[in-house]
Amino acid sequence: MKIGILGSGDVGLKLADSFIATGHSVKIGTRSPEKVASWTAKHGNRASAGSFADAASFGEIIMLATLWEGTPSALKLAGAKNFSGKVVVDVTNPLDFSKGAPPGLAVGHTDSGGETVQRLLPDARVVKAFNIVGNPQMFKPDFSGGPPTMFICGNDGCAKKSVTETLDAFGWETVDIGGIEGSRLLEPLAMLWIMYYFKTGNGNHAFKLLRK
Ligand SMILES: NC(=O)c1ccc[n+]([C@@H]2O[C@H](COP(=O)([O-])OP(=O)(O)OC[C@H]3O[C@@H](n4cnc5c(N)ncnc54)[C@H](OP(=O)(O)O)[C@@H]3O)[C@@H](O)[C@H]2O)c1
Repeated sequence: MKIGILGSGDVGLKLADSFIATGHSVKIGTRSPEKVASWTAKHGNRASAGSFADAASFGEIIMLATLWEGTPSALKLAGAKNFSGKVVVDVTNPLDFSKGAPPGLAVGHTDSGGETVQRLLPDARVVKAFNIVGNPQMFKPDFSGGPPTMFICGNDGCAKKSVTETLDAFGWETVDIGGIEGSRLLEPLAMLWIMYYFKTGNGNHAFKLLRK
């Protein structure tokens, strides 16, 4: 499949590598495509870069991996029509670093980043996923306790099925927690991951749902 990735940071590049490793073609969207020239050169003809609009238009699935405060601007630059009917995986966390680190959440309780993205892209099928783990663990997470759990949410069942297929290929167990308002739980869960990161100084952790 053709995957458009909005964002050229650690998350965008990690997801890009992961999709290429699982047989897909990727276009990274950024305001400065020259920044990722060495990445595209490394991957040959299944990797390319362009504007946010180029990546959104290219992608059959679009991964949203932008800094929270730049997200509305990135989506505007990408052009709402390029998202119409498509699966958009919202990996962002609405982090507020205004008081330094560790960050707080810029939105919560009665709203969320995931819902904000769905409102900004009313014709897209937004699924919140991948936001509750650090990027080094996003692909083939290797833990002695087995595959960790990725909680996802979104309003469209087919879109969540598609994201679950990606998560299967990337080595995750998936638990669907319902509509996009579930982001009100998944974004604070990311905060828990982040607080533990600051406490331990490493990102070698992920969540797992245990059942009897
Ligand atoms: N770091 C992690 O391990 C991790 C894990 C889970 C979720 N997340 C979330 O995933 C997202 C991406 O994380 P990251 O660490 O890769 O982020 P990042 O490097 O800080 O930023 C990624 C992208 O945000 C875009 N951006 C920043 N300001 C912008 C603006 N004003 N207008 C348009 N675009 C703007 C940049 O575009 P340009 O390329 O044009 O500069 C860049 O490509 C964040 O929301 C983060 O909270 C991160």
